[in-house]
Amino acid sequence: MIPLGPYFRQLLGQLLFELVQFRAPRGDQFQQLGILASPEVHAYLGSPCPRDELERDMPEVPERWPGSFVVDLDGAMIGQILLRRATAHRRPAAVGKVDLGYLFLPRVWGCGYAAEACAAALAWLADALPGEPVVLTTQTANVGSMRLATKLGFTEVERYEAWGAEQWLGMRSPVALSD
Ligand SMILES: CC(C)(COP(=O)(O)OP(=O)(O)OC[C@H]1O[C@@H](n2cnc3c(N)ncnc32)[C@H](O)[C@@H]1OP(=O)(O)O)[C@@H](O)C(=O)NCCC(=O)NCCS
Repeated sequence: MIPLGPYFRQLLGQLLFELVQFRAPRGDQFQQLGILASPEVHAYLGSPCPRDELERDMPEVPERWPGSFVVDLDGAMIGQILLRRATAHRRPAAVGKVDLGYLFLPRVWGCGYAAEACAAALAWLADALPGEPVVLTTQTANVGSMRLATKLGFTEVERYEAWGAEQWLGMRSPVALSD
C-alpha cells in the first residue's frame, strides 16, 4: 500500500473502483471544470478552454489511468496531478521521461496541499517504477510552481523560450535523492 497523506486520494486500480462506487462522479466534474476553466489557474499555461466546451466534452465518468490523480479535501476535489510519459517533449532531455503536472483550485493555494499531494504521487511512482527520473516544465514567472518544484526536489536542467515566455525544465533524480 502506498503511503498517502490525509488530503490525498488515489484514483487508481481497486481504490478508483471503490471510489466510483461510493461517490457520484458529477461532484468531481464540477470541481474539475472549476480548475480547467479558471483563467487564474491558466495564468502561465495558456488560455483555459471555454467552460461550455468543457461541459460538452467532459465524459460522464472521468478517465482513469495510472498516474492520473485527484486530490481530495473533505470529500471534494481540490486539485489534480498527472504523471505522464513525455513521448513528444520539445526538449530532448525530457523525451521519454515521466512528466509531472499539477493544477489546484486557487482557493487552496499556499496551504501546502500541493506539496503534500505531489510528494505522495512521487512516492507512488517510486513504488510503481523504481529508479525512474521525473521531469517537470514550468514558466520561470510561475513563482508558486517554481517554488513547489524546488521543494519537491527538482533541479534545473535548462531554461528555454517557448510560447512567448521563459520555460524551466527541471528533473528529479531518485539516485540523487537517495544519496
Ligand atoms: C503551482 C501550484 C500547484 C502551487 O500550489 P500551492 O497550493 O500554492 O502549493 P503549496 O501550498 O504546497 O506551496 C508549495 C511551496 O510554494 C510556495 N508558494 C506557493 N505559491 C507561491 C507564490 N505565489 N509565491 C511564492 N511562493 C509560493 C509555498 O510557500 C510553498 O513553499 P514553502 O513550503 O517553502 O513555504 C498552484 O499555484 C497552481 O495550481 N497553479 C496553477 C496551475 C499551474 O500553474 N501549474 C503548474 C504547471 S506545471
